[in-house]
Amino acid sequence: MEENVIPHNFSIAQQQRSILKKHKPLLVWFTGLSGSGKSTIANALEKTLFERNIHTYLLDGDNVRKGLNNNLSFSPEDRTENIRRIAEVANLMMDAGLVVIASFVSPYRIDRENVKRIVGYGNFVEVFVNTPIEECERRDVKGLYAKARAGEIKNFTGVNAPYEAPMAPDVEIDTTMVSVEEAVALIVAQIEKRVKRKK
Ligand code: ADX
Repeated sequence: MEENVIPHNFSIAQQQRSILKKHKPLLVWFTGLSGSGKSTIANALEKTLFERNIHTYLLDGDNVRKGLNNNLSFSPEDRTENIRRIAEVANLMMDAGLVVIASFVSPYRIDRENVKRIVGYGNFVEVFVNTPIEECERRDVKGLYAKARAGEIKNFTGVNAPYEAPMAPDVEIDTTMVSVEEAVALIVAQIEKRVKRKK
């Protein structure tokens, strides 16, 4: 089927949309354990960028899994499909000119590599929220660690499913050492130059 699909050449390209928005698109990808603080920092980052007239959109695990990906489980195969779809959605949003902030556990290195390949290596900033599992578990905001320890959730990342840490993230944050404001400042410092247009 796929060979019979021929893309149409539309008149307005990514660059024109980007010029109109006065900044370049980018994907800021948060990875880390459940309860590590990804969504809290991602939310604060979006607020800061919004205040600087950057056009953003935030994609978050708990939200996307209620809609687009509500047919996917937490098996390794379904997590791979979860991340692949999110990468394709982010890619479309970047084509529309947005700075996309994505917050997903994304525990497999190969899946994160696939995201980079889909959106282009130069358009990807990896933020590793490296809060120790003991702290994530202590917070247990959603009560999921307790359930996983009680054997009520199988495949729970960090308890009975693996988390493969990034080898060379662009930013690494341990929320037991760094405040939300400091984390946002670290990320903004990394992305500021990359979203800036020459003209
Ligand atoms: S991912 O592994 O496929 O990237 P995603 O970020 O979409 O995960 O969803 C993770 C969220 O789903 C967690 O923040 C947590 O609230 C919830 N969740 C429910 N079951 C699991 C599980 N088995 N492992 C990890 N997170 C889970």
